[in-house]
Amino acid sequence: MILPGSDAHSIAAGADCIRAGRLLGLPTETVYGLAADVDNDSAVAQIFTAKGRPADHPLIVHVADASAVDHYATDIPDFARALMTAFWPGPLTLILPRCSGVANAAAGGNPTIGLRCPSHPVAQALLKNLLDAGPTLTNPAQPSGGVRVWGVAAPSANQFGRVSPTTAAHVQGEFGGDLLILDGGACSVGIESTIIDCTRGQPVLLRPGAITPAQVQAACGVRVLSKDELQGADLPAPKASGTLESHYAPQATVRLMTAEALQTAVKLLGKDSSNADIRPSIALYSRVSFKKASPHVLYRRMPADAASTAQELFATLRDFDAQGVKLIWIETLPDDPLWDGVRDRLQRAACF
Ligand code: TXA
Ligand code: MG
Repeated sequence: MILPGSDAHSIAAGADCIRAGRLLGLPTETVYGLAADVDNDSAVAQIFTAKGRPADHPLIVHVADASAVDHYATDIPDFARALMTAFWPGPLTLILPRCSGVANAAAGGNPTIGLRCPSHPVAQALLKNLLDAGPTLTNPAQPSGGVRVWGVAAPSANQFGRVSPTTAAHVQGEFGGDLLILDGGACSVGIESTIIDCTRGQPVLLRPGAITPAQVQAACGVRVLSKDELQGADLPAPKASGTLESHYAPQATVRLMTAEALQTAVKLLGKDSSNADIRPSIALYSRVSFKKASPHVLYRRMPADAASTAQELFATLRDFDAQGVKLIWIETLPDDPLWDGVRDRLQRAACF
């Protein structure tokens, strides 16, 4: 069931659902999450079952603000505190040393924990309600009727390995009508949060996102290492890299091609439209435009900037699938760090 997230009654229903140990579809500014009370191991276990996700693959814990961090993490370096101040609430996840005995199921056996404070107003309202232990639907007369929930574990609300959802309808398509979903509209960022490992003395980029390493570096004054540099530094590799999902894959096969290669390939397809019933079997997503593309081709213009492309990327891939194309040809992206988040998702979508 989808409820309007802007409605206070929906937020209370969502909070009741989490307190009762059930799953909730939750909008964030990046992608929708499949949320559960992180301190309830059986609720967290349902996330792994519903997603078909391996139990040793850790989940991100979402908190209302930085005040909840000490409940889950310890030995927090100064640069991590600086990053919370600079980017929370927002699309940045920090990996920190975990307090022993908390969030065991969500951490998937890791001695660390991933924490993020989302900025989406619906996520904020839900997390604040859970933290405040406010009145519940089931017990509205009691001002502090609820049990305090410090954080919710929420991976992206998609089946393991598939494209992340950026609308409430996408989430319903993944998990069916029984799941309660708060509708927060289309996600504004569109790709998952930047992940920075803060357990290695200096920041390490595990997953690129809207917040770039240059921004992280400027905010905390410490150089950000790439995963490759980490290996070079002879430190043990993180147990879960933050990028274990080898693909964010639509059903159709994705191929990245230069503008020239795309133009040549489309020319080769020809313009034979003698069969009026022809259905496009190839989708094209490019900045270079094709005014008279072949009838075999479904063309969609890629925005000129990285943020707009990220915002529409997953919905576009889902839409191509819904139209039944077999191949998705995508123009290679500008060689600029601003595009690294989109590049990462597309490279993994194309890795079959
Ligand atoms: O934007 C996001 O981060 C979204 C929204 C819902 O918040 N969530 C998300 O969660 O992308 P998920 O589970 O799909 O991806 C989380 C990534 C995984 O690749 C996981 O390996 C990594 O975060 N991760 C979580 N905890 C970790 C830890 N303790 N150490 C290393 N990586 C961790
Ligand atoms: Mg995911």
